Amino acid sequence: MTVESILSASDAEKTAPSKPVPDPSRFSVLPRHVAVIMDGNGRWAKQRGLSRSEGHIEGAKTFRRIGEYAGDLGIRHLTFYAFSTENWARPEQEVKGIMKLFGAYLDEALERLDENLEKGIRLRFFGDKSRIDPELVALMNKVEDLTKDMTKVNLNIAVNYGAQQEILHAAQLLAAQCTEGSLKPEEITAEKLEANLYTAGQPPVDLLIRPSGEQRISNFLLWQCAYAEFWYSDVLWPDFTERDFDMALSDFEKRSRRFGGV
Ligand code: FPP
Repeated sequence: MTVESILSASDAEKTAPSKPVPDPSRFSVLPRHVAVIMDGNGRWAKQRGLSRSEGHIEGAKTFRRIGEYAGDLGIRHLTFYAFSTENWARPEQEVKGIMKLFGAYLDEALERLDENLEKGIRLRFFGDKSRIDPELVALMNKVEDLTKDMTKVNLNIAVNYGAQQEILHAAQLLAAQCTEGSLKPEEITAEKLEANLYTAGQPPVDLLIRPSGEQRISNFLLWQCAYAEFWYSDVLWPDFTERDFDMALSDFEKRSRRFGGV
């Protein structure tokens, strides 16, 4: 399997009887913001005697499929965790493979720009771009810029992202304003801090999905998940289907959200 094969159908697509049709009327309420930790690619590959990179190739196909489905369903804010600040510790080959997948995805986003604009998709990359290959960063910036006026679907991809670092960075920006005299420490509010997060202007996470049997938040959107509903599943990310996504939504609509009240 090669990166080039990224555009071909995934195993899940091949075996699915037909492409599931998104039907928002099935749900009494939809989350405004869904976040997904795409976990289990490595185990999926191992089970098949494939390399970890091949697992990520399949995971990237699932990302496309679920991203498109969720957007078509009418979920307006989607954030996918694609690469954490800790993921650099993985073998060089694996990291290179994941970066290549981002490159292929960005090329495709530009090729399909008209389609993305027609669907109103705004693409953003959350994370510290300073450690990422400048060529990739240039592509990320280009795609972000070309889609910046879109408002229908906000598709956020977290790359070299860590929530603690994000909050620290926001605190540093506010502290700098205090030092230069444009802000007083007592004027710092949750809203001001939020305005300095990658998610500025987007609602908090309503639903956090983590497949692959793990039940951790792994330094993902810690501030934004303050009142998120968690949904876990044993399915490995490459096997995650639209049906799984629907199941998460069905579960979400049954949750009683009190936000600390009664
Ligand atoms: C975690 O699974 C997955 C990652 C660290 C990488 C996720 C990346 C992708 C799905 C590709 C995204 C591509 C685009 C275009 C956004 P794991 O490797 O930790 O799995 P394991 O726990 O089974 O080892």
